[in-house]
Amino acid sequence: MKKAVIRPARGISGKVNIPPDKSISHRAAIFASLGRGRSVISNFLFAEDCVNTVKALRQLGVKAEVSGRDLIVEGRGLKGLSAPEEELYFGNSGTGMRLMAGVLAGQSFSSVLTGDESLSRRPMERITIPLGKMGADIAPSEGGTPPINIRPGNIKGADYESPVASAQVKSCLLLAGLYSGDTTSVTEPFRSRDHTERMMRHLGIPVKVEGRKVSVTGGAEWDARDIQVPGDLSSAAFFTAACALFPGRSIYMPGVNRNPTRDGFLSVLARMGCDIKWEKLRLVCGEEQGDLSITGSELRAVTLGPDEVPAIIDELPLLALLATQSEGVSRITGAGELRKKETDRLSAVAAELKKMGQELREGPDWLEVTGNPGGLKGASVRSYGDHRMAMMLAVAGLKAEGETLIDDVSCIDTSFPGFLELLEGLVER
Ligand code: S3P
Repeated sequence: MKKAVIRPARGISGKVNIPPDKSISHRAAIFASLGRGRSVISNFLFAEDCVNTVKALRQLGVKAEVSGRDLIVEGRGLKGLSAPEEELYFGNSGTGMRLMAGVLAGQSFSSVLTGDESLSRRPMERITIPLGKMGADIAPSEGGTPPINIRPGNIKGADYESPVASAQVKSCLLLAGLYSGDTTSVTEPFRSRDHTERMMRHLGIPVKVEGRKVSVTGGAEWDARDIQVPGDLSSAAFFTAACALFPGRSIYMPGVNRNPTRDGFLSVLARMGCDIKWEKLRLVCGEEQGDLSITGSELRAVTLGPDEVPAIIDELPLLALLATQSEGVSRITGAGELRKKETDRLSAVAAELKKMGQELREGPDWLEVTGNPGGLKGASVRSYGDHRMAMMLAVAGLKAEGETLIDDVSCIDTSFPGFLELLEGLVER
């Protein structure tokens, strides 16, 4: 385990190139493998999560070569995967495991999906139950967690009402639906991120979106097409948050994804008082991207309800941090899904920010934060092996009085290798 010491900063400013989007990279590798022919995924995210998905695809017979920042994939068509000789290991990645479970449920061979300690604790019945209804022969281990065992099944279409707003669940079922001869629909309580739908449209796969319902018609093959991955808005969020902590400072981030199902953090930051600007907006491979800049300001407390949670789900730990540095009491409700992430982020955020001298209260699915601008104190804190916790705490350390010691920062490589060095390069001391 690698530790890190974060020293307080006077400010943070400058230009930063944000790494490629994790969600889009996973999907690009999967769809490129299932398409017919060769495609180039440019600006692929070579971080542990996505690399594990690529390794699994290689075990299934896909040729995927790295060329600089690109991944070149020889797609084998919808039915072209072959049986793996060993278990498929997805490391820390819920996205990799859940999306690939959808693909593997439609194959004529068996497979076993495993993950690291954190992934092995995460709930899988949210996909195995609906996949079973679609005709898949799939079972998680006792307790509903990985490993997942899949045997050949006979996938049929379904009209599934999902109890959770989860892009991983939705994408898993839509991918499985490609192996049926009819239509598969997923309706969510609130819309989750729509990268799968956008990529399907980019590739010419028949997908239809009607409000909270997404439908795909299975059976049709498609020709692989090149995909360019934009910068990850969730990775940009760490710099955005760091800047928001220092009134008057600005950060500029070119080429960041601006997907309306992902940009909740920016809307909330604007409500809190920050100045957010998008420039040079362009549509690339079905996803909008642009150059993002933010200027920090004195922050006001916010209230956030369940309908807003899906679009800010991965940024809620950062929002809790900003709430500690805002005037007033902030409330986040309908955030129970945070307990199902790489760690229980609701408890972890409350526990670690309390160690830094802040006042937070948590309930089953809510968090209340009493603002205490300027009151963050350096402390010895835990990341729980969760990349987003580690990065949030590093940002917190910049604004704290005294040093902050983070117990484990190796987990940052899951999504953002080089994060701490990049952050350090922007800091004023
Ligand atoms: C992701 C979906 C989200 C998100 C995760 C990536 C995806 O999870 O938290 O980091 O790529 O589909 P849920 O869809 O389960 O909420």
